[in-house]
Amino acid sequence: MRNENVIQSLNNLLADASVLYQKLRAMHWLVTGREFFVLHARFEGLYNAWAEHVDDIAERVLTIGGKPLATLAEILEHARIKEFAGTTTPKDMVKTLVGDLEHILAGATETIAAAERVGDRGTANLLDGIRDEQEKTLWMLNAWLA
Ligand SMILES: [Fe+2]
Repeated sequence: MRNENVIQSLNNLLADASVLYQKLRAMHWLVTGREFFVLHARFEGLYNAWAEHVDDIAERVLTIGGKPLATLAEILEHARIKEFAGTTTPKDMVKTLVGDLEHILAGATETIAAAERVGDRGTANLLDGIRDEQEKTLWMLNAWLA
């Protein structure tokens, strides 16, 4: 089942997911304004979900015979989304999050395609679940922005 394309694609996703996880923690801590209580709690729910996704993606890399990116330096080298940039307004945070999730969704779709080409159903199934969840989260974040 070991396939370098799938491993590499999963590791890129792992890097993005790891940056997103830390970014959500930063947003949870630093959000200010009238929406504080709602977003502080919401960001916590999201980073808890991403903590699990990060772990599942890393362990999928191991399951198919690869080595997951494990240091912050490696993660930052491979991540395609940007770290938290210091914005504290709720609207900017949620807009940033929407962009990041859309990017991650596209990355997951690419990884699913790479996995399906080699018959790796386990990777495709894992990422299908994560994708479905992100689509729903995007709907809610966009509803909040509207
Ligand atoms: Fe907290």
